[in-house]
Amino acid sequence: MARKKIIAGNWKMNMTPSQAVELINTLKPLVVNEDVDVVFCVPAIDIIPAIEAAKGTNIVIGAENMYFEEKGAFTGEISPEMLTDAGVKYVIIGHSERREYFAETDETVNKKVLKAFEHGITPIICCGETLTQREQGVTIDFIRQQIKIAFLNVTASQAASAVIAYEPIWAIGTGKVATTKQAQEVCKAIRDCIAEIYDAETAEAIRIQYGGSVSASSAPELFAQPDIDGGLVGGASLKPDFGKIVCYNK
Ligand code: PGA
Repeated sequence: MARKKIIAGNWKMNMTPSQAVELINTLKPLVVNEDVDVVFCVPAIDIIPAIEAAKGTNIVIGAENMYFEEKGAFTGEISPEMLTDAGVKYVIIGHSERREYFAETDETVNKKVLKAFEHGITPIICCGETLTQREQGVTIDFIRQQIKIAFLNVTASQAASAVIAYEPIWAIGTGKVATTKQAQEVCKAIRDCIAEIYDAETAEAIRIQYGGSVSASSAPELFAQPDIDGGLVGGASLKPDFGKIVCYNK
């Protein structure tokens, strides 16, 4: 079965609750594409108004982060049950900004991934190399390690339903998009790694996004690659341009 594309916006720390509603109202007529699952990953405080604003549309609301414990004395964190009770279906796990500024590691990513699956939330698991790693030629080795740790103790059927976002750190928010060849090469290596950990069927099913300065002009070529199943979009997801990205094949 052909994999359905998945294009997700990552709003990062942007949009107040009222701005979130306004943006969804602006974007909802522009992001209609039956060939694509459309996800808006929004700040925690925007989740409830965003879900309300997206009712009756094809937009699904996701979170940008989640903690790996059920509940309790973890001031400031958001639990998986808080997300599911609000109606959240996806959660970004291990974005490079969380790794860099909030000390997330491959191990905490794995704990969060396991917890998300336990609660029926689909994780969008982020990986990606620094510019130095790319220049040193260790990109694939580094990403294979991130993937192997992220998927520890994850079952094959869980893995088949997961989303991986390959986001080279040097391409995030820089306007410097990876070449189609670079993006496809790494996404294929990720799929091969999943085949090694599990089997060919799981590797065929898992969806792998590219992220890092995706724009309306770069999206069509990127998403036409055999191992790129959509994108995780930061800056451009806050603009009407996101409609063009979602409708990349129209
Ligand atoms: P960008 O961000 O599209 O602004 O580069 C992508 C991301 O960080 O998910």
